[in-house]
Amino acid sequence: MDIFERTELLLKEANETSISSAEELEKFRIRFLGTKNVLKDIFAEIKTVPNERKKEFGQLVNNVKQTAEEKFAALQETFQNNTAGKDADIDLTLPGDVVTIGARHPIQIVKNQIVDIFKRLGFAVEEDREIEDDWHNFTALNMPEDHPARDMQDTFFINVNPDVVLRTHTSSVQVRVMENQKPPIRILSPGRVFRNETISARSHCFFHQVEGLYIDEDVSFADLLQTLDFFVKELFGQDIKIKVRPSYFPFTEPSAEVDVTCFICGGKGCNVCKYSGWVEILGCGMVDPKVLENCNIDSKKYSGFAFGMGVERITMLKYQIKDIRLLSENDTRFLEQFKKNMTATTKLSPQEQVRDAFGLLK
Ligand code: PHE
Repeated sequence: MDIFERTELLLKEANETSISSAEELEKFRIRFLGTKNVLKDIFAEIKTVPNERKKEFGQLVNNVKQTAEEKFAALQETFQNNTAGKDADIDLTLPGDVVTIGARHPIQIVKNQIVDIFKRLGFAVEEDREIEDDWHNFTALNMPEDHPARDMQDTFFINVNPDVVLRTHTSSVQVRVMENQKPPIRILSPGRVFRNETISARSHCFFHQVEGLYIDEDVSFADLLQTLDFFVKELFGQDIKIKVRPSYFPFTEPSAEVDVTCFICGGKGCNVCKYSGWVEILGCGMVDPKVLENCNIDSKKYSGFAFGMGVERITMLKYQIKDIRLLSENDTRFLEQFKKNMTATTKLSPQEQVRDAFGLLK
């Protein structure tokens, strides 16, 4: 038999071998496609083929190889599928692995609640940098150097350079927006802020704020009160009232602090509201014309209001969390408990909760 006849025989074999089990398929693979397969042996003999027939021989060997490959690929699927469920080592009655599903962090949940309410009033979300310069964090907001109000916000400076700070509030984002957009402006600036304060159960050196800004022609204090009244009723309940106390911020005039009916005791007095019936939730006021001018907005034509609130504070009040540190330490015992409480009160179906955890719920 010459080398051509032997190769023809291999082709016939590759075509006709009948394979009816995974073991037979494996034997076939080793013979035709393994590292020491028969085709390698026969190809090694190419030197005995006369030059003018070398091409023909090469094609024939390739043909065998291709046939074997195709047959293997086709049968592989059949036998792999068939063996999967039959494998004696797999006990299909065992319980599956427990898949624990994460959940949104309490701060994100409350931030989203706040943002969603204001979005319905047409406020757009604006975010910006956490490392700020003096102008955007202080000076543009009517707090020039040496202004005593700077002491209200103990500041972290970066590299001892007094011009570079970790923002102490997200009002800095509002300055950036006013510099770059023309009124009407209606924005919310949620984000993380930093203050050089001693860490305790009630205060931390970083926390989150949502601040809001509305600038247009004829915006009044009454508009501010209407907006805030709507907001607190949506967030805490329709029977919640607001109380406005005069206050001071360098960037607003007049300025106010807003209290809401203590939603724990309904105003009767408890230890959360220190028996006053009210809890403080935010600061606000009419944007000082000087601030508008600093940002190249005509203060004769436009007026506006601004407000700012701490997300940790509202989260702690709303869910009665006693220690602010729990909100940044990522102790999974606390987070699990919070998730359980939320799940117990949620109106979402289990499927919706999963989609919500992955941010897929519209
Ligand atoms: N920026 C203020 C703060 O961080 C909050 C505030 C915003 C007050 C807007 C009034 C108006 O304390």
